Amino acid sequence: MDLNNLLDKTIDTSDINSLNNVAKSIAQYIQPGDIFFLNGNLGAGKTTFVRLILNHLGWHNEVKSPTFSIIQLYPDVTPPILHADLYRVNNATNLDIEEYFDTYVSFIEWPDVLQGVNSSRVFNCLLNVEENNRSITIRKIT
Ligand SMILES: Nc1ncnc2c1ncn2[C@@H]1O[C@H](COP(=O)(O)OP(=O)(O)OP(=O)(O)O)[C@@H](O)[C@H]1O
Ligand SMILES: [Mg+2]
Repeated sequence: MDLNNLLDKTIDTSDINSLNNVAKSIAQYIQPGDIFFLNGNLGAGKTTFVRLILNHLGWHNEVKSPTFSIIQLYPDVTPPILHADLYRVNNATNLDIEEYFDTYVSFIEWPDVLQGVNSSRVFNCLLNVEENNRSITIRKIT
């Protein structure tokens, strides 16, 4: 499914296969410079979503949560992927994350600490979990 057809809808992802289908669409349509903010509670599935996207790009090695590394780069997939988790970051000014934004597709968990991100394609993904029900809503914000 075209990425545009996924926008502004709340998709039920209680079955992980549904999340995998969304991940497949994302993997097909991303291009360098795209930035995805991943919002949602602890355990909502943000890291899982990035892992599924990377799988569709042909990456079948480990995808660790960047909770401690803050930024994980996957330069050898096409397009190259940046995966960040800013949960423990209080001040993003010395992170030097922006230097990757033009050439990578960036997936950023807990992005609120970032200010004034400059890209023509920024998406907000809201992952929601309540009891056994999960969903994802993707909106284009720039
Ligand atoms: N349908 C589903 N969608 C997403 N995750 C699922 C689903 N079913 C089960 N899970 C499991 O829920 C957990 C989600 O954890 P994950 O680390 O992806 O969340 P997170 O949003 O990145 O959390 P954190 O904010 O702590 O980084 C994983 O163990 C995953 O396997
Ligand atoms: Mg995570």
